[in-house]
Amino acid sequence: MFITFEGIDGSGKSTQMGFCRDVLQAAGHETLLTRNPGGTELGQGLRQILLHHPGYVSPTCELLLYIADRAQHMDEVVLPALEAGKFVLCDRHLDSTVAYQGYGRDLDRAMIDRLNAIATHGRKPELTLLFHGPPEKLLERVSRRGKADRLEREELDFYEKVADGYLALAEAEPERFAVLDALQPIDTLHREIIAVLNDRLGVSLTAKTQG
Ligand code: TMP
Repeated sequence: MFITFEGIDGSGKSTQMGFCRDVLQAAGHETLLTRNPGGTELGQGLRQILLHHPGYVSPTCELLLYIADRAQHMDEVVLPALEAGKFVLCDRHLDSTVAYQGYGRDLDRAMIDRLNAIATHGRKPELTLLFHGPPEKLLERVSRRGKADRLEREELDFYEKVADGYLALAEAEPERFAVLDALQPIDTLHREIIAVLNDRLGVSLTAKTQG
């Protein structure tokens, strides 16, 4: 099972991914936690450029670097793990590129879809959890974390386009997406996610008790 976690920066998805991994492992499922960009050694170099290059990065170059990271990651990490019967939990994947480079940077959607299909060999996630909330609130969380990276320094207006893009994607593929309210308390959100996994994937997991 391939499960992706999506949403704008500050949506709390990484915390929830860790909880899901704990629950899946406790139920005896081999589980791999990984991410885009940077889920391979090669990808870590690309991530460094993407998030911290100090000078100008052209939108097309940015798109191609995210796609290159994804191609390497699919072949080296995701597909072998799925082949081995593992649950793969991935922090961001192809929908991030449509939301950020497509809706955020206004790059052509058909081109992005084609590049994503090449990088993934057409393999899409079984389930995509979208952490949705008002960008101004979620970005406050990011600014509390300390120094912002290259993407996090974008204006609110960019993030509003990205958040709207994510919602449009979820509306277009309701059978793949589950939209979650990112502003809920952490433990409520966790229980909701476990309920979604049980319902959509036919597993029977028990939520972690917090604290
Ligand atoms: P994160 O791993 O801390 O979420 O940082 C990754 C950043 O890269 C985040 O701001 C979203 C952005 N991103 C894109 O713009 N396009 C993509 O395809 C991916 C995977 C991430």
